[in-house]
Amino acid sequence: MSRRPIIAANWKMHHDHLVSIQYLQKLAFLLEGYDFDAVDVVICPPFTDLRTVQTLVEADGYPFRIGAQNVHPEEKGAFTGEISPVMLAKLKVQYVIVGHSERRQLFGETDEFVNAKVVAVLANGMWPIVCCGETLEERQAGQTQAKVDGQVRAAFAGVKAAQAEHCVVAYEPIWAIGTGHNATPEDADGTIGHIRATLRDLYGDVADAIRIQYGGSVKPGNIAELMAMPEIDGALVGGASLDPDDFAGVVKFQV
Ligand code: 13P
Repeated sequence: MSRRPIIAANWKMHHDHLVSIQYLQKLAFLLEGYDFDAVDVVICPPFTDLRTVQTLVEADGYPFRIGAQNVHPEEKGAFTGEISPVMLAKLKVQYVIVGHSERRQLFGETDEFVNAKVVAVLANGMWPIVCCGETLEERQAGQTQAKVDGQVRAAFAGVKAAQAEHCVVAYEPIWAIGTGHNATPEDADGTIGHIRATLRDLYGDVADAIRIQYGGSVKPGNIAELMAMPEIDGALVGGASLDPDDFAGVVKFQV
């Protein structure tokens, strides 16, 4: 089963809305029609950039898909400072990163909260990019598989196969994020294979359609070998997505 590659830029807390204009214009200039034919290219800017990015994408016909980095599971209410899935859907957001390790570690997000977000994203016609991954300590203790298995099962609780098919999972080993130490392609592929086995246990053959990305120090110099692995369907890119030249180099992994 061949799955369509999906490469996503997670700018994290970088680039204001003015920078986002320059960035997208440059990236659109660097990428060709055949790049977009081959790969889904998702841009996940900070919330304050989303309206600007949506306007550019619609006005100039850029074939980028718009992603958000987070969401609150409730549709409205007294949640000062939060952004609802309804608001994101109105901005033509298609993908929402859910359960990123930075949110889990720095903001205390639990598996249950991550699951509530997944359900809310799907209920509003968007697709989650569900993040999972182990710490260095867990890895050294041989707990990688158990950790990601637990995270994936929890995140997908209550999600039906017809919805799961369009979800994206991102395996991001925490020790590889922003460190320059990426997992070897074989290692990443092995864990992603385990994640797919978990999804197969939940959804049967639908697991073959679910795209699973690798994330953690992905850059133009290592993307091709990662994408050559059978289980890796894309990348969630942090640091190397901040510069349009670098990100274009990642998107063009086949060139
Ligand atoms: P880096 O590419 O900077 O390691 O970040 C990965 C990541 O967290 C993407 O979500």
